[in-house]
Amino acid sequence: QQKTLKDAYKDYFPIGVAVMPQSLKGDEAKLILQQFNSITPENSMKMGAIHPEENRYNWNDADSIVAFAQANGLRVRGHNLCWHEHTPKWLFTDANGKLVSKEVLLKRLKDHITAVVSRYKGKIYAWDVVNEAVDDDSSRLYRNSLWYQICGEDFIVKAFEYAHEADPNAQLFYNDYNTERPEKRDRVYKLLKKLVDAHVPVNAVGLQGHWSIYEPTEKELRDAIEKFASLGLQIQITELDMSIYPWEKNVRAKTANDIDKYTSELEQKQTEQYKKMFSIFRDYKNVITGVTFWNTSDRTTWLDHYPVPGRKNYPLLFDVNWQPKPAFWSVVNF
Ligand code: XIL
Repeated sequence: QQKTLKDAYKDYFPIGVAVMPQSLKGDEAKLILQQFNSITPENSMKMGAIHPEENRYNWNDADSIVAFAQANGLRVRGHNLCWHEHTPKWLFTDANGKLVSKEVLLKRLKDHITAVVSRYKGKIYAWDVVNEAVDDDSSRLYRNSLWYQICGEDFIVKAFEYAHEADPNAQLFYNDYNTERPEKRDRVYKLLKKLVDAHVPVNAVGLQGHWSIYEPTEKELRDAIEKFASLGLQIQITELDMSIYPWEKNVRAKTANDIDKYTSELEQKQTEQYKKMFSIFRDYKNVITGVTFWNTSDRTTWLDHYPVPGRKNYPLLFDVNWQPKPAFWSVVNF
């Protein structure tokens, strides 16, 4: 009897995966249906993709992913409604190329969120409403994006309100990365506490989980989960992968020459790290309501292109031939 992720975790939380329309065919679709019970569109619902012009939406890709989920009984997490990246060209400027006013930008945000959330009402159970609005630099709370420059912090509150109006039953997430690093964790906490205290309709926090075989530590992860849970929020790991490169090296690397071989030693380290992370997730099953991997297998992972184009990475539980890696067995056997 072959063990699968979704069966192993059926008493814990759904296990999800990020997909593109082309993932939903052939071998990859088979593996997805065998192992996962939730999907997230990797790019198809980002504003630049789904809303390329002010008066035109491009629903095809997003619709096809939602239809696949419906046909196969998978849950869908929507990703995302408001982010500083993948924004369409028209969003921040008027016809003369001048930055728009706060009123205009909030109106555009409202139109966008209302259209997208309403279309998938009842089919998407959770939305990443605001993505990565907290700064990486400890001297600032908010990222200095155009959203922030034009609207101040209000765009965050408004995004949650608009989403809640469009689908009062959807779970609404604030989603961010490096949330286990104490300084960033505390800034994200500060933002969330403000929102919760002001009764903004935010239900949950998404820890992206773009980790490496070197971090976070067990203590960092537990501290972050406990701190966010203390606000009464649910927690999901929304974009899990485990780079074989340390974060700092990832960020600073300038060329594809900087390639580490995926040695059995690194693979072993990755297996242990995955085992440890999932045993922590199980410990917190009362607050963790989902774990989603950012891609299916090492065959195609966004980390092959980020931050350095063409530098191969091996961050997932299945190998380049869709076969389970030792890390997979360490996650399903407990
Ligand atoms: C990434 C996708 O995986 C890539 O295909 C795309 O080119 C860039 O975006 N944080 C997020 C995700 O919230 O949306 C990002 O996804 C990865 C980092």
